[in-house]
Amino acid sequence: MISELYQEIILDHYRHPRGRGTLDEPKIHHEGANPLCGDEVIIEFRVEDGRISDIRFSGRGCSISQASASMLVEMVKGKTLEEVRTLIQKVYAMLRGESTPDPQEMGDLSALAGVSHFPVRVKCASLPWHTLEEALNEANHAAK
Ligand code: FES
Repeated sequence: MISELYQEIILDHYRHPRGRGTLDEPKIHHEGANPLCGDEVIIEFRVEDGRISDIRFSGRGCSISQASASMLVEMVKGKTLEEVRTLIQKVYAMLRGESTPDPQEMGDLSALAGVSHFPVRVKCASLPWHTLEEALNEANHAAK
């Protein structure tokens, strides 16, 4: 039952992605690719007062990668950069099967916990999160 529910959540994000599109300037733009399949996710966001004030994603990929990107947009909008970095590490731990997600805290992302049993799928689910992490690192570097 649980896995059926989680499958529904993933499909809902895939079919009705939140935050698909692009942003006008000024924005931080970063492209990431899954080396196993060549699929790409592009993340664009804006930072105001230390928070992600707006964010969009584009690109192409499987249902897991696209659903994960949609969940990412929902989860990180409005968070401080520190909060986002903490969340990224929690997502990685969940996808590696090292932690059990608290649905209260992780929301729809909890539906992705099951991919930890499928190493190839872990790359799909983590693609948007790696892309966002690289974008944050690049923005941090550029600000120095
Ligand atoms: Fe390419 Fe999932 S198969 S991102």
